[in-house]
Amino acid sequence: MKRAYLFLFLLFQITLSMQAAPGDTHIAIETQQTALVIRIDKDQTPTIVHLGPRLHKAAEYAAIPGNGKRGEDYTGLYNSVYTPAGGRNLLEPAIQVTHADGNPSLDLKYVRHETQSLADGVVLTKVYLKDPQYPFEVTLYYKAYQKEDVIEQWSSIRHTEKKSVTLQKYASANLYIPAQNYYLTHFHGDWANEMNPSEVLLTEGIKVLDSKLGTRADLFQPPSFLVALNQPADEDQGEVIAGTLSWSGNYQLAFEVDPLHNLRILPGINPYASAYTLAPGTDFTTPSFLFTYSNKGKGGASRSLHRWARKHRIPQGQGNRLTLLNNWEATYFDFNEEKLSALFKDGKKLGVDLFLLDDGWFGNKYPRNDDHAGLGDWQENVKKLPHGLGYLVKDAESAGVKFGIWLEPEMVSPKSELYEKHPDWVLKLPNRQEYYFRNQLVLDLSNPKVQDFVYGLVNDLLTKNPTLGYIKWDCNAVVYNAYSATNPNQSNLYVDYVHGLYKVLERLRAKYPTLPMMLCSGGGGRVDYGALQYFTEYWPSDNTDALERIFIQWNYSYFFPAIASCNHVTDWGKQPIKFRTDVAMMGKIGYDIVVSKLSEPELQFSQEALKTYDRIKTVIWQGDQYRLASPYTNDVASAMFVNEGQDRAVWFTYLVNSRYKAGSVAPIKLKGLNPEKTYKIQELNVYPGTKSGINSSTATYSGNYLMTIGFNPQVDTRRTSVVLEVTEVK
Ligand code: DGJ
Repeated sequence: MKRAYLFLFLLFQITLSMQAAPGDTHIAIETQQTALVIRIDKDQTPTIVHLGPRLHKAAEYAAIPGNGKRGEDYTGLYNSVYTPAGGRNLLEPAIQVTHADGNPSLDLKYVRHETQSLADGVVLTKVYLKDPQYPFEVTLYYKAYQKEDVIEQWSSIRHTEKKSVTLQKYASANLYIPAQNYYLTHFHGDWANEMNPSEVLLTEGIKVLDSKLGTRADLFQPPSFLVALNQPADEDQGEVIAGTLSWSGNYQLAFEVDPLHNLRILPGINPYASAYTLAPGTDFTTPSFLFTYSNKGKGGASRSLHRWARKHRIPQGQGNRLTLLNNWEATYFDFNEEKLSALFKDGKKLGVDLFLLDDGWFGNKYPRNDDHAGLGDWQENVKKLPHGLGYLVKDAESAGVKFGIWLEPEMVSPKSELYEKHPDWVLKLPNRQEYYFRNQLVLDLSNPKVQDFVYGLVNDLLTKNPTLGYIKWDCNAVVYNAYSATNPNQSNLYVDYVHGLYKVLERLRAKYPTLPMMLCSGGGGRVDYGALQYFTEYWPSDNTDALERIFIQWNYSYFFPAIASCNHVTDWGKQPIKFRTDVAMMGKIGYDIVVSKLSEPELQFSQEALKTYDRIKTVIWQGDQYRLASPYTNDVASAMFVNEGQDRAVWFTYLVNSRYKAGSVAPIKLKGLNPEKTYKIQELNVYPGTKSGINSSTATYSGNYLMTIGFNPQVDTRRTSVVLEVTEVK
């Protein structure tokens, strides 16, 4: 045979061998729009043959060619559903183990699968895999949230070998996607500079996003990403996978473009310093990986995640939130009962629901008068608060606001009675210098006694003060010198820490299911859906400069819904109070200002704005969010929220460039309205003494017009932020 013919013949053979054979089994994990299809071949090898739009006829999944767009795979495992290391695999594994007898290889064959309908359009598929030679099993779980188009995947690992097995790597998922090109958007930053996006074209090899920080794991980058397939996506067009790992500790997201130019995505706990010793007969469950596929761009992907999060993940995601006044930037550590009492009244005057007392209220032998002492000693400081917290709770309530409190329960100051009493409760290495992060150390939450201590402190507070209305749970240090005085397996520590934290939060949530709790980590150092199972809201950043916040909130909004974003009006930055308020309204508004220093018009504006917010908040919290104009590519940033009935929308536009003539020079096209409905547009948050120029009692527009031609909110250097309410006229 001539060479060219031989090549074609071989290619034909290879292609044939990739097709489904008659006896193959297909497992389709389907949402309304999406399908992930697993094929089990005659050797019981499970591979992914499709991740993308759901086919109309499920029977046709069997016709999908096996391994992506190009065929040759030496191992037959490039598209493994959960790639085991050590045998014939050549690429990045999902799981790598050392068996009790020292054998470093794993083979995973399909055993069976089952599908179970849970409540409310949620379908759970379990795929059982087993090593043919060892009593070692992996179960893959896929929870399909059909209406929300989100798939949640995790694995559980179990064995009955004679001794412990070491899990070297144990990813949550192992996706496989063929496309021409892959554009990864990931986010990075630092304190007060969270969530800067970067888009990169993935090339052959592996790109790893990870954290080794332990506690404040997302300080440099979060475990959330977007991958656009074939070409870069925009808000409305393009194929996009949005993914996020539900884990509050060290993570690793590996993106491997394989030798066939197909993309493998392996998200999970970071294997760094975390070879996990698993005793016989016990289960190891990985955190879950959440993803959604959209062929309607990034906007479609984020709206799916938002709907899912509100309905299925965040406590009271479809419920209420409290507006609040926080004293952190108003007083820092310098307060007493008298000052606080005045602030309660200020909160009431402003019109918020709750006063939140921040850091500095505790510690007696080592008073918490700055950030060098006192963490761990959670007793009221008798000089600042001689009558205790109970008195403050009542005082706030009699002023007409609820009372909430700041805690940093996982941490300890070297100068604290807790550290003196329990040095073995602290994470630190023997024979090494102690390193501090914000002058503090981390408690060992892998130790059940420490878990009890942390649970006890929150539980005591809530038992003594049953009307305490809110907790802000902070976490300001990373883990240095990771070492536990009590954990028998040091390399389990990073993982056991997070499990310990979740156990505490689980217990608290069981007893206090409706308590509003803010997830804070020196800003946005811990924003993930693992922690957000327990918290009603998160603190995106300590940077509350409203101009910066437009960018920060914009980027979080790819993954997290507005109802969970705590946006506070503070004195950071140079923007006027209207601009700061408008930006904060794009989520859950709060304040961290000295109310008594507001001018009369500023106070009047803020009081009115809070009343307006109360009227429109459900549209922002529960509506679909559309990002209309990006601050990265326009003079203005613009985003809107539309309610389910499409009869109400709230639309925010801000000037983000102050150059000559910068502004909304052309109409901005609205999205998400009903083209057949007729709407009127009214400006909100008009500053006292100014006129809108937009408000007209007669002008109306069809949804079709507003979405095709658009509307100019008239943002310019004199009107730097504009909030418009779009309401159906019946
Ligand atoms: C860091 C938080 O992000 C701030 O809001 C504040 O609570 C301080 N910690 C208090 O120490």
